[in-house]
Amino acid sequence: MIEIQVQAQPSNPSVASAALEQNLGFGRIFADKMFQMKYHKDRGWYDASIVPFGSISLSPAAMVFHYGQEIFEGHKAYRWEDGRIALFRPEMNAKRLNNSTYRMSMPQIPEQVQLDATMALVGQLKDWVPRQEGASLYLRPTMIATEAMLGVRPSNEYLYYIICSPVGPYYPTGFSPVRVRAEDRFIRAVPGGTGAAKTGGNYAGGLFAQAEAKEQGYMGVLWLDALNRRDVEEIGAMNVMFVIDGKVVTSELKGSILPGITRDSILHLAPDLGIKTEERTTSIDEILDGLQTGRVTEAFGVGTAAVVTPIGHIGYKGVDHKVTGDEVGPVSRKIYQALTDIQWGRAPDRYEWMRFVH
Ligand SMILES: Cc1ncc(COP(=O)(O)O)c(C=O)c1O
Repeated sequence: MIEIQVQAQPSNPSVASAALEQNLGFGRIFADKMFQMKYHKDRGWYDASIVPFGSISLSPAAMVFHYGQEIFEGHKAYRWEDGRIALFRPEMNAKRLNNSTYRMSMPQIPEQVQLDATMALVGQLKDWVPRQEGASLYLRPTMIATEAMLGVRPSNEYLYYIICSPVGPYYPTGFSPVRVRAEDRFIRAVPGGTGAAKTGGNYAGGLFAQAEAKEQGYMGVLWLDALNRRDVEEIGAMNVMFVIDGKVVTSELKGSILPGITRDSILHLAPDLGIKTEERTTSIDEILDGLQTGRVTEAFGVGTAAVVTPIGHIGYKGVDHKVTGDEVGPVSRKIYQALTDIQWGRAPDRYEWMRFVH
C-alpha cells in the first residue's frame, strides 16, 4: 500500500454532470482530479497524491522534451447498470507500463502501487463516469522524464500521473466498418526498436502517414513490417486480426507490435465461442490473395477505444480491396458482443477480468 494524500476538494457533482452533458467525443474533456507521484533516483517514488486537474510546471530543459523519455497507458472505467464502476484487467496495463519502463530506461512502479493509485483516483471521480450507454471514463497513466539536463542519458527524475477523460460511445450510430490503407513507404517500428513499448515517439512517427491516409479517405494506416514492407503488423492504435479459413489469425508478438490487452483477451475468449485462433505472421499478399479466393472473410482492428473495428476495405498501392464492404462479419460481431458484454457486466465474468472501484 502506498499512502496517497488527497489534496483536492471533493468533486461538485453538478460540475461533473454538466461536463458529461456535452458531446464527449474522445479525450477532449478532463475530470477535475488527477493522481501524481514523483521519482528521484536516490529516493524512489514519493509524494503520491490526488490533486486538482491542472497544468504542470517543468523546466524547458526537462529531458522529456529533448530525448522523448515518455510512456503511457490507456484503459477504461465502465459504469454498470447496477451502479458499480468496473475496470477491465487494469493489472495488464500496470504490467505493460512496467515493460515500457524497461525498454525506455525508466523506473518501474510496482503493479500494486499503480492499481492502488488508479482505484483511489477513480474512487474520487465516480461522478465523472458517464451513464450514457457505451460511454466510459478513459484513464491515461503517463510517465515523463523531468530532470533539467541536456546530456543524453536516462533522467534521474520522473513524474507519473493519471488523468481521466469521460469519452462517448465509439459507435454512436452503430457498429460500422472502416477503410484502412496498407502503408508501403513509411514504417512504424523496426525489429529491436521500441514498437512493443507504449511510448510517444512511436505515435509521433506515424502521424505523417496517418494524415496522408486520412486525406485519401481512410480511417488510418495498416502498418507493414519494416524490413520487407510485407508482413501485416498493426493499425494506428489497434492490433489487427483476420479471419482466414474460418480461424482468427493475428501476428505473433515479435517486438515491433504493441501487446494489446484487447488482443490478448480475444485470444482467450474466442476458443470458448467456438472460434479457433492462431498467432502467426501474415503477409499483405496472403491477405489480398485470400480476399480473391474467399479464404479471408473478415478483418478487424482490436483495441481499448473501440474494442473491435471491422475493416470494410484495405487500400494497397492505390487499389482498394473489399473485405466485407459496408457489412460487419459474423466473427467480428460475435467477438465484439462477447467482450463488451463482459466489460459492461451483461455476461458472467468467467475469466475474472473485471475489478470494482469502491
Ligand atoms: C499501437 C497500438 N497497438 C495496439 C493497441 C491496442 O492495445 P489495447 O488493446 O491494450 O488497447 C494500442 C492501444 O493501446 C496501440 O496504441
